[in-house]
Amino acid sequence: NPRVDVFEAARDEFGPMVLDALISIKAIYDSSLTFRRSCREGICGSCSMNINGVNRLACTTPIDHLKGEIRVYPLPHLEVIKDLVVDLSHFYQQYASIEPWLQGDIAGSQSEQEQSITERAEIDGAYECIMCACCSTSCPSYWWNSERYLGPAILLQAYRWLVDSRDRA
Ligand code: FES
Repeated sequence: NPRVDVFEAARDEFGPMVLDALISIKAIYDSSLTFRRSCREGICGSCSMNINGVNRLACTTPIDHLKGEIRVYPLPHLEVIKDLVVDLSHFYQQYASIEPWLQGDIAGSQSEQEQSITERAEIDGAYECIMCACCSTSCPSYWWNSERYLGPAILLQAYRWLVDSRDRA
C-alpha cells in the first residue's frame, strides 16, 4: 500500500535545490528512493514532481524558498510506477498524436527554409516548453478527461507547429 516516508536531516547536508536533497537522501538514507532527473538545469523536464502542493521542477526549486517541512509527492493524477516516478506513457502518446514535426512540401527538402523575423517570433512562447507535464497534471479538466482532452502541454505543442510558417500542412 502507498505510504509516506519521512526523512529528517540537517539543512547543511544538502545542496541548494530540492533535487540536491533527494539525491543526498538517496545517497545517505535510502538507496531505493526513486525519481527521475537528468540535466539538473531546468531543461530536460524529467524531475517534475509535486513540492509543497505545487507541480514544479525539483532542480530549479531552492530549498530555502520553502517553509518548514518539504512535502514531495509524485505528479498528481497519474499512475505511480515507484516513489516519484509516474507513468507518462499516455502523455507521450498524446504528444505523438499531434505529429510534432514540420509537414507539407517542406518534408524531405534539403534546402534552407527561411523565416522572416516576424514569422519566427510567432513561435516565441510556444517552442520553449520542456514537456515536464507540470501544467497538464495540475489541470482539473485533464484529471477528469485525459482520455479525450489533450491538456495544456500538448495543445501548446500543437499550436507551436500550427503557427510555424515553415509547416505547410
Ligand atoms: Fe532536468 Fe530538472 S533534471 S529539468
